[in-house]
Amino acid sequence: MSDGHLHKYFLNNADKRLYKWIHYFDIYERHFSRFRNKAPVMIEIGVFGGGSLAMWRDFFGPDSTIIGIDINPECKAHEADGIEIFIGSQDDPALIEQILQKYPNVDIVLDDGSHIMEHMVASFELIYHRLNPKGVYMVEDTHTCYWPEYQGGLKQPGSFMEFTKNKMDELNAVHTRGAVPVSGFTKSTDCITSYDSIVVFERRPQGARQAPITLGMAMT
Ligand SMILES: C[S@@+](CC[C@H](N)C(=O)[O-])C[C@H]1O[C@@H](n2cnc3c(N)ncnc32)[C@H](O)[C@@H]1O
Repeated sequence: MSDGHLHKYFLNNADKRLYKWIHYFDIYERHFSRFRNKAPVMIEIGVFGGGSLAMWRDFFGPDSTIIGIDINPECKAHEADGIEIFIGSQDDPALIEQILQKYPNVDIVLDDGSHIMEHMVASFELIYHRLNPKGVYMVEDTHTCYWPEYQGGLKQPGSFMEFTKNKMDELNAVHTRGAVPVSGFTKSTDCITSYDSIVVFERRPQGARQAPITLGMAMT
């Protein structure tokens, strides 16, 4: 249940620079609240002024581990208790492997990095299947999917939005009569949620499908 914690934190923030659209906070709380005070491990791609990493640590609690990734070496200065920052590009397989070797049980990813299509897809492909089985992968600022300067465009092949639409078919692959192969993604994904400027993928092993018919018993 949301208690508006992130809204309040953001509005009262007087410490490190924090850059978020206001309507994101309800979405964060909806998808991330179940991890609060459960010692989650989170990766945020894109550190900037370090304010969001501090916010996540405050939100998730003192036993949480927050990992930042940023291409700018100056971001290393934002490390703190429970916050570790790796310097490099979000699409670098060696960097991601280094992080996942050290932190094999990641619960949450938030991609707020370059917002360039190839980078967003690459990070997803590198990390999503390695997340915990009930983990969540959120990508924000997906409005860049429509902007050519980020390799986007309406229905542009290779944009993260088109990638997401294909993932919706992959999630439903068992119903496509073989048109879309059933994949590890199919078997491990519970839902994809699309908002204004945010897409969320939630993992959960798909169980056996059941479609029982029930008929109410007459109370005679
Ligand atoms: C929008 S800012 C992050 C804001 C921060 N998450 C916040 O909420 O305050 C984007 C960050 O992504 C970083 N960035 C740009 N290209 C990147 C890449 N290829 N890999 C990792 N980080 C990158 C930039 O240096 C910048 O700090």
